[in-house]
Amino acid sequence: MARRGGSLAPAARPVNVGGTVRVPGDKSITHRAFMLASLARGESVVRGALVSGDVRSTARVLRQLGVPVGAVRGGNEVRVRGGSWRRPGESLHCGNSGTTARLLLGLLAGRPFEARLTGDRSLRQRPMRRVTEPLRRMGAAIVEERGDGLPLRIHGGALAPLVWRLPVASAQLKSALLFAGLVGGVPVALDEPAKSRDHTERLLAALGAPLAERGTAVHLDEATGWLATLRDLELVVPGDASSAAFLVGAGVLAEDGALTLEGVGVNPTRIGFLRVLERMGAPIPVVSLRTVAGEPIGDLTVRPANLHGVEVAAHEVPSLIDEVPLLAVLASRARGETAFRSVGELRVKESDRLGLLAANLRAVGAQAAVEREDLVVWGSSEAPRGSVDTAGDHRLAMAFAVLGTVPGAAVRLSERTSPAISYPGFFEDLERIDARTPQRHRD
Ligand code: S3P
Repeated sequence: MARRGGSLAPAARPVNVGGTVRVPGDKSITHRAFMLASLARGESVVRGALVSGDVRSTARVLRQLGVPVGAVRGGNEVRVRGGSWRRPGESLHCGNSGTTARLLLGLLAGRPFEARLTGDRSLRQRPMRRVTEPLRRMGAAIVEERGDGLPLRIHGGALAPLVWRLPVASAQLKSALLFAGLVGGVPVALDEPAKSRDHTERLLAALGAPLAERGTAVHLDEATGWLATLRDLELVVPGDASSAAFLVGAGVLAEDGALTLEGVGVNPTRIGFLRVLERMGAPIPVVSLRTVAGEPIGDLTVRPANLHGVEVAAHEVPSLIDEVPLLAVLASRARGETAFRSVGELRVKESDRLGLLAANLRAVGAQAAVEREDLVVWGSSEAPRGSVDTAGDHRLAMAFAVLGTVPGAAVRLSERTSPAISYPGFFEDLERIDARTPQRHRD
């Protein structure tokens, strides 16, 4: 492929970074912790929970289902009194959260009542049939109101065992089916094309569920007896690697300094972006490794680096699926070409991330193209300037905000509220890591 545009001069780099940041709790794990606690009898406590829009969506729909969930606000310890569920009086509004909607479908498949799920405009367009099709096979009744999306109604009940090959590597789909097996008290055997994030499996295994993993396959045996023993859980949520990734990006693009990110989840199924950054010339050491509730956690040290383009292979994509926006903006500051292979799944995220990434990179003067299922980005040292349409997508907004830290950059975002979906303090943290920010703002 021909190199397009892009000077070979090293990119000018921005601010001096410094300080230590503890990023907020992991979004994927917080959803799962609340949901698992909703199945356990007694009062469970979730520590380190993310406090964000998506997490509030999960808390809200669980409350509608008769599960008392404490307030989700700062201080991030949330109490959940699980065990008894009831038919909801109104539609379950999952907001912007695909994880809430899809995992909830699995939980509802084994419940003997009807529930209607809906969401915001973005979520209503996201595919649900990948979840509803296997749930139907298990015996759930599902009425689609709008083709392959929300709103839809599910009437759960007695379920049959499932042996299923997932059409896409998707942790949301895999987790929904594991939850259906748990609630329905039937075995499920799942295989996926590549291994997606395994937080559900780790949580279940740490709690002693009858679960076995072999490569990309996971088997859950009939778990009714095990589920009945679950009570008063204490679950700890590590820092979100996907949120940390944006600060890592800002640190790598910086001119000087070093940044420490503490307590970040470093589950191998989530940190493909660190492996890619190392190949791009930015090794990020992970120190003080420890394990909490089956999840590895560590501290990251980020230093500025000169990046060069790389190839990101299809098999790596599930381990960095949410970091493609960040890696793509970094690729626009790297020497040469970066190709992300087989990233078509990005079309059905909170926005059409694939099309919008390329269009927005071009809008700020960078070179990028979608070539069938691939995203190709050519690096440049020109300061990025222009307006970005985030389409209300939190990860696009944060990625382009990081690009906007480059000196001379003038990147205007169409909105700055979407990061509250996953990382409400993002803009404050981005400012805090700028070593030029007065100390009183950085404590
Ligand atoms: C998630 C899985 C991924 C990811 C999403 C969170 C999860 O989605 O993009 O942000 O918590 O299971 P898919 O399962 O659709 O790939």
